[in-house]
Amino acid sequence: MITLETVNLEIDGPKATIFLNRPDKKNAMNPQMHLDMNQALDEIEADGNVKVVVITGNGDSFSAGMDLEECFLKPYDDPQLFYRTNLVALTWFKRLKAFPAVTVAKINGFAFGGGVLVTGICDLAVASESALFGLSEINFGIFPAGGASWAAAHNLPRKQALYYILTGDTLTGRQAEQYGLVNKAVPAEQLDEETDRLVRKLLKKNPVTLHLAKQVYEHNRATDLPTAIDYDQAKLWELSRLTGSEWINVALKQFEKRAYQPGLSTYTRSDSTS
Ligand code: ACO
Repeated sequence: MITLETVNLEIDGPKATIFLNRPDKKNAMNPQMHLDMNQALDEIEADGNVKVVVITGNGDSFSAGMDLEECFLKPYDDPQLFYRTNLVALTWFKRLKAFPAVTVAKINGFAFGGGVLVTGICDLAVASESALFGLSEINFGIFPAGGASWAAAHNLPRKQALYYILTGDTLTGRQAEQYGLVNKAVPAEQLDEETDRLVRKLLKKNPVTLHLAKQVYEHNRATDLPTAIDYDQAKLWELSRLTGSEWINVALKQFEKRAYQPGLSTYTRSDSTS
């Protein structure tokens, strides 16, 4: 366990877990937490073996969003300080979006503003049914910024996104699942087990393929079909080269021997974790 001032990081082989750790402040993200998140991502990248990163909160909150006092109220009168303070946050949000490992938000409680943003940036998300999400910015007179509107626009249907942006109403984990903000909502006592189940599934896949699958998805959702097809072709060559053509030499060889059915399960990798 790597213990930073506001974040704990556990690296367990191919799985890393980041625990936001300001439970008394509902894991509101203060400037120190933004520095710590950048450091946690540095540590994970330096490790080089992590395939899946889970982000969760200690205590009863995932994150109550940006620390309204330390990030906004206190530095506001000094434009340079305000800019620098929030740049650190924006930096790790962007890093997280492009992170090579698969990112999974595990929403254990309150997720407001920046908490919704982190949920939306992560590739996948599992929530407690009773988790409470909210784009509360409108309640204190601004619109969701720093990527939060992007997260709403990319993770909720338009009418729902606008509803929650404009009213600041909360939604539960169950509603978040219904609208697609999270993949699954489960009773609180099953959150660990459900997240572990998802992580185990991901750990069986080739990490290079996971990374490229994310890249291809993100690129192709914003482009036309001919461009997407060309991009796929190039990335497939890249994948083949980077993996020693594992899909041909291992996966499809196993299929040739009828060792598994790709429609129903994954081939066996030499370093896969079951
Ligand atoms: N920034 C700074 N401090 C916060 C934040 C925050 N975002 N959220 C909670 N805290 C602090 C509280 O001020 C309180 O501090 P104190 O003990 O020094 O008084 C402590 O965390 C505990 O919070 P309570 O309000 O006592 O806890 P409760 O369980 O009653 O309510 C809730 C939790 C609903 C999350 C409430 O704290 C709240 O509304 N927080 C603000 C949520 C929010 O709007 N976040 C900003 C989103 S916008 C953005 O991220 C850009």
